Amino acid sequence: MDKKIEIPDAYSVPLNKINPADPALFKNNVMWSYFERLRKEDPVHYCERPYDIADDVFRDEEIGPFWSITKYNDIMSVDTNHKVFSSEPAITLFDPTEDFTTPMFIAMDPPKHDIQRKAVNPVVAPGNLKNMEGLIRERTQNVLNSLPKNETFDWVSKVSIELTTQMLATLFDFPFEDRSKLTRWSDVATARPGDGVIETEEQRYEELYECLEYFTKLWNERVNSEPKTDLISMLAHNPLTRNMEPMEYLGNLILLIVGGNDTTRNSMTGGILALNESPEQYEKLRNNHELISSMVPEIIRWQTPLAYMRRTALEDIEIRGKKIKKGDKVVMWYVSGNRDEEVIENPNSFIIDRERPRNHLSFGFGIHRCVGNRLADMQLEILWEEIMKRFKNIKVMGEPERVNSSFVKGYLSLPVKIIE
Ligand code: HEM
Repeated sequence: MDKKIEIPDAYSVPLNKINPADPALFKNNVMWSYFERLRKEDPVHYCERPYDIADDVFRDEEIGPFWSITKYNDIMSVDTNHKVFSSEPAITLFDPTEDFTTPMFIAMDPPKHDIQRKAVNPVVAPGNLKNMEGLIRERTQNVLNSLPKNETFDWVSKVSIELTTQMLATLFDFPFEDRSKLTRWSDVATARPGDGVIETEEQRYEELYECLEYFTKLWNERVNSEPKTDLISMLAHNPLTRNMEPMEYLGNLILLIVGGNDTTRNSMTGGILALNESPEQYEKLRNNHELISSMVPEIIRWQTPLAYMRRTALEDIEIRGKKIKKGDKVVMWYVSGNRDEEVIENPNSFIIDRERPRNHLSFGFGIHRCVGNRLADMQLEILWEEIMKRFKNIKVMGEPERVNSSFVKGYLSLPVKIIE
């Protein structure tokens, strides 16, 4: 059972004690006023001793001190300056442990980053996406057709997880009957001991080794057959990635599994929630299905499935008069930038026909900008097209349960009822 905890009001905490990375803020969906205060009073904020409200401890050893960048344009300038702000050794606040490192290109700098990114890029190139579109639509239709009507069920497990897992199986050409393994590995990869997913770090390593073993079998089959357009085949045949170390292969698999899974999954749930919270927007959509193409990026802004990316300063640098030192951790809070009233009009409102809906930070910017952004857009567009063809209303029946993380901003469950 979750502990009941009291979250103090953002304006009652002394500025220097504010820790925006405290997962309890996200679990309880109360981080908004914290970020609003930081944007107004301390947009480049130093948190010296990250305090964890739920466990009543300082995370000195685990994450240590870090900077928070909370304004849209400042985030953009950090994200596009990879010469000063490195993605190594990690893009979350947690540094890799020495006994289990899984290098992945999201946490690499050039030139290695660029080489590996290039190898996976073709799988999400427009031509390949077009090839996948029919299958994605068919699988979406099957999932929607199988849903119960006029009774309450969990949207997260029945739709969001099921669809994103099927999509991943398509990308990897992964045995379809084993696809639930992908969901499990995705959850395990981002879990922390005791959070309900895994009990210990050792359990995490064991399960991820199983993942590596499974994918190594697939690699060995594909490397000896004709090159195809699935991700494993592409990595196995590309001269630049063919000789990856096993842990590097695992790292990049985890990147693609998590990148393509949690994020789209939580956008699928976020969209349902956003439309229910703004019934006038739902009505607008019912009257004009063409708005789906501008609603999808708005869902992705509103949800911001990855709340932040972290960088490490390679040299001393000043932002807004604050002196960031070489080696300091710097966190770009996309979730805050996406609500920056100086750049986005009415940022706290969900508006499906915004003029510039793609004006958001959810996919990042610069050399690490999300590889899968067009794929994510396409999946969500297909989902909403098929929903609107079938159902008059998908009604939220209770509170969502939110993930206990300040990195993956998402949902564990959302009770809904389909009204035909
Ligand atoms: C709504 C869905 C998604 C969101 C919000 C999202 C968000 C992000 C963000 C914030 C980054 C880092 C950007 C930066 O550091 O500047 C990223 C990178 C990445 N994403 Fe996504 N992503 C989504 C879907 C996907 C999908 C479907 C895939 C799978 C193909 C994917 C694969 C990747 C990869 C491989 C990277 C690393 C790129 C690099 O380091 O060069 N993402 N994504």
